Amino acid sequence: MKIDVNRMLRKSLLELMPYQSARQEFVNEGRKMILLDANENPFETPVNRYPDPLQTEVKKAIAAIKNVEIDQLYLSNGSDEFISQIIMGCCEPGEDQIMIVPPTFGMYKVAATLHGVGVREVPLTSTFQLDVEAILQAADQKTKLLFIPTPNNPTGNSFDPYDLKTLVENFKGFVVIDEAYVEFAEAPSVLSWLHEHSNLIVCQTFSKAQGMAGARLGMAFADKKLISFLNRIKAPYNINSLTLDVALQKLKEQNIVQAQVAVILKERLRLEGVLQNLSWVETCFPSDANFLLIRVDDSSHRYKQLISKGIVVRNSSKNVGCENTLRISLGTPEENNTLIEVLSTLEN
Ligand SMILES: Cc1ncc(COP(=O)(O)O)c(C=O)c1O
Repeated sequence: MKIDVNRMLRKSLLELMPYQSARQEFVNEGRKMILLDANENPFETPVNRYPDPLQTEVKKAIAAIKNVEIDQLYLSNGSDEFISQIIMGCCEPGEDQIMIVPPTFGMYKVAATLHGVGVREVPLTSTFQLDVEAILQAADQKTKLLFIPTPNNPTGNSFDPYDLKTLVENFKGFVVIDEAYVEFAEAPSVLSWLHEHSNLIVCQTFSKAQGMAGARLGMAFADKKLISFLNRIKAPYNINSLTLDVALQKLKEQNIVQAQVAVILKERLRLEGVLQNLSWVETCFPSDANFLLIRVDDSSHRYKQLISKGIVVRNSSKNVGCENTLRISLGTPEENNTLIEVLSTLEN
């Protein structure tokens, strides 16, 4: 859907005069300058200077890989920061709402609540798919954002691309398709839909397949007007220099990432086979991510048993429709060997 992007943004923020960081006030034409503009310590270390506020070098590298333009790309301190910023930027506290599709990633609701923004919930169907009609019916002009993680966390499945397309074509606010686990999925990213839909936002992260959870780096791809707005409302130096260096290196090592993803997918198949044969596991849900969701006889009991054997999984039972479930991330083949050994010793 084509929307008037500026109409979806908070008026008071559209008019905001952004903080101008020192390094944005002149154009460096490649000359070596003496930097006396930002009250830094002048003695050189890898981090004595403020980082590039617009992260141009890393964005160029990402844009080339993802086949987008750099002004369609926003970088955040993890996707978590982007989720918070987009809610803050679009939703008037006490007036607007976001929409989520539980069971879903928990941060959407937390971030909305922190910003004083309401949350409408339209649960997934019993097979963990999107209830497209109910979503469209539950939305009104105050529903500014619809968050859809695919593959979904905590269920692990991808949503039907036809349903995603129907929502992007018909939802009158922004549709945020959160592709945190896209590298593990069979279906391709929906990034190619961007040029037709100014209401589509795609976010991805360096925290999962890219192996950089500790560095905190998220990517959001969207209409250029929205990206420019996000750049104006962000903290000036939201991505630190160390993270930018590690990301540049990581982008050059995508062959290693792909090899690791291949191992994880093989391990997923192996662990699935084991879990399906355990009598106390009722269901092992199909996964398109780097974790498996299982329904068991008694999730608290099994969780505690695993803890006592030195293995930490996630008890996901508090999520709507996920009673008595555990979410198990895939480890290294050695870690999975230990998990499988432990699983076989737990009584029926
Ligand atoms: C669907 C989904 N989106 C976003 C995130 C957070 O990503 P980041 O580490 O980039 O903040 C997670 C983390 O678990 C997630 O499951």
